[in-house]
Amino acid sequence: AIERTLSIIKPDAVAKNVIGQIYSRFENAGLKIIAARMIHLSRAEAEGFYAVHRERPFFKDLVDFMVSGPVIVQALEGDNAILKHRDLMGATDPKKAEKGTIRADFADSIDANAVHGSDAAETAKVEIAYFFPALNIYSR
Ligand code: CMP
Repeated sequence: AIERTLSIIKPDAVAKNVIGQIYSRFENAGLKIIAARMIHLSRAEAEGFYAVHRERPFFKDLVDFMVSGPVIVQALEGDNAILKHRDLMGATDPKKAEKGTIRADFADSIDANAVHGSDAAETAKVEIAYFFPALNIYSR
């Protein structure tokens, strides 16, 4: 089925100048970029986005990292987009990510792990709405 998912290119990957290489992987996999913006998140925006992780021990480090530089946020659309995007990213911990995945190729640590992607249809909906009011989405 055609799905949408929320993708973030994190500060480490933006600093490494690999935005285009990551976009090419999305495009080559048949994922269409239907909305995109570059933003330097405020602490409140990062905390709000990751609110589900608020009680986790890694929350402060995660937020510190996500506000350390600009990110690129995009909504991707395509067949089976949520799982397809997760497969392209590889495991959360780049040490465990399969060869050829974005995290294996570009990430340095579990915090500086290059990309974020929605993990399910319900979270994708919430995460896309967090960054993109419906009027800013261009599906065709
Ligand atoms: P992301 O997919 O953006 O969602 C939450 C982030 O928290 C995750 O990627 C990692 O970058 C970061 N993180 C740090 N430590 C952990 C951990 N132990 N488990 C899951 N995520 C972690």
